[in-house]
Amino acid sequence: MTSHRPARCCLGIETSCDETAASVVCDRTGVRSNTVLSQLVHAEYGGVVPELAARAHMQAIVPVVEAALAGAGVAWSDLTLIAATNAPGLMGALLVGLPFAKALGYALDIPFIGVNHLEGHLFALRLGRPQLQPPLLAAVLSGGHTELLVVEDWCRYTLLGSTLDDACGEAFDKAAKLLGLPYPGGVELEKLGRTGREVIDFPVPDPGGLDFSFSGLKTAVLYFLRDHPDAGRADVAASFQRAAVEAITRRIEQAVRRTGLKLVGVAGGVAANAYLGERLAALAQRCGFDLVIPPAHYCTDNAAMIAAAGLERWDRFGPSSLDLPAAARSALGGD
Ligand code: KG4
Ligand code: ZN
Repeated sequence: MTSHRPARCCLGIETSCDETAASVVCDRTGVRSNTVLSQLVHAEYGGVVPELAARAHMQAIVPVVEAALAGAGVAWSDLTLIAATNAPGLMGALLVGLPFAKALGYALDIPFIGVNHLEGHLFALRLGRPQLQPPLLAAVLSGGHTELLVVEDWCRYTLLGSTLDDACGEAFDKAAKLLGLPYPGGVELEKLGRTGREVIDFPVPDPGGLDFSFSGLKTAVLYFLRDHPDAGRADVAASFQRAAVEAITRRIEQAVRRTGLKLVGVAGGVAANAYLGERLAALAQRCGFDLVIPPAHYCTDNAAMIAAAGLERWDRFGPSSLDLPAAARSALGGD
């Protein structure tokens, strides 16, 4: 008799910030659906309002999960596992998706797995390249976190550096706000920067070691705009982006030298930035490493990455306890 592992279908649920997302992933990396509802309610406030995010998740969670199942063409009874983000994130937002997933697992009598959101971002790398094998150097660049890690193995990480102040995506969003661009600003700043020239010499942040710091760069943009009210907005965007991206590429180059790793993955919302992708590709060629950046829809928040991480964690550690708490803060690689 040939051994054949039965198909495992994981429903992933992500509600850590302002995206209500659900996805069905079968057998490790087979994404059957990937439903993401980006909450529009925050735009008029220029940033995410936690209370409104929680309420919007409450309204969206059932239709989003139903859409993910319908899109995947699977029935409730086809699901074998449920994974949900339990940390880090906005507490009120986590407290929608997490108990929803636990209750659903309980009702369907299938296991529940809690997933760290940052670990989810790392698994987006494998969705982009199913054959990806650690060890690799990885950077997670999101709106709330900036971490440089060695992925020793799946689910085993060593933290090399992180931001001492603002996260990388946060810096993009703040600079975009200073430029009068709508929230979320990162993608808008990239678009504007494409039309500008890198003529302003903003400082490239460097707090030493393999850590990051972005708050000084944001302040430099603030003062520049105050002192040069007639400056071309596109040039400011292009110059900010050059400095922010250079800070990232420098750190990655240093980390590659230090670790000797020849495989590098970059994930999280900022990894969707095409200019960053171009600079990293040039660096990869110069330093001789293999670069993995997931497709943009797996870089920004989604639940396929949560389901993929859940499937791997299930294989290695089995289910999470139903009393697993939500946590607003949680770094990877510290344990
Ligand atoms: O990973 P993500 O979707 O959510 C968090 O976990 O925070 O990252 C969102 C961040 C936001 O700061 C957003 O402005 C930024 O990623 N971002 C970008 C781009 N697309 C999203 N930043 C620069 N360029 C982009 N194209
Ligand atoms: Zn994220």
